[in-house]
Amino acid sequence: MEVKVTSNDEFAARAADYAEAAINSQSVRNLCFPTGDTPQAMYRELVRRFERGELSFAQVHAFGLDEWGDLSADDPSRCIARLRHELYDLVDLPASQIHYLEPNHSNVAQMCRQYEDEIAACGGLTLSIVGIGLNGHVGFNEPGSQVTDGTRVVSLAARTKQVASKYNLGMIPDWGVTMGLATLLASQQVLILATGEHKASIVRELLQAEPSEQLPASWFLRHPQCVLLLDEAAASEL
Ligand code: GLP
Repeated sequence: MEVKVTSNDEFAARAADYAEAAINSQSVRNLCFPTGDTPQAMYRELVRRFERGELSFAQVHAFGLDEWGDLSADDPSRCIARLRHELYDLVDLPASQIHYLEPNHSNVAQMCRQYEDEIAACGGLTLSIVGIGLNGHVGFNEPGSQVTDGTRVVSLAARTKQVASKYNLGMIPDWGVTMGLATLLASQQVLILATGEHKASIVRELLQAEPSEQLPASWFLRHPQCVLLLDEAAASEL
């Protein structure tokens, strides 16, 4: 894992540079996109680059990282709704190339298997962009997740539910659906984003850890092409 620290002002542009490189890659252009507070400035920067004519999403396949359970299909707090609002609807990404997890599917286990099949059918993931939770989760791969886990239904950790109150969900779900650690680790490249002082201690723990189930993000320490991009506040305990 390569660690890069930027100023807060530069963070969005540096994160967008990684996304842009994957979007312009010569082979497949399949990206995994997260939601949460952390990636919002990067999405604004990607939209600006699209509006200036510097970037096109026409060849991109976009895969959502995770999704809350129990929210209605039209709930604006759903991850897919936020991704549409912050990025997908603002660029030239064809609707047929938007892939998302559907927790309300009548056979959710089958939906998860299909998601893996869709990723494989597109040629695998070029770049997975993920955040890190305060408990070290990636997507909804909570502590205790296995490195061999694929896309699946998961129970949310108490810490995750506590933090979820900041997203103004009408209710806090007990479960979610997430791309698995194995799915993400198979990505050609991984970009982990962390900003803010509140992420400083989990970032320090991560960089001192050995890969273990207790800290799901720690499996990315050994990924051959993983960048941990931090702003100065998230790097303040290093
Ligand atoms: C959430 C999501 C993750 C997200 C992470 C960090 O629970 N499941 O996909 O990356 O926690 O969120 P934030 O960027 O708001 O800190």
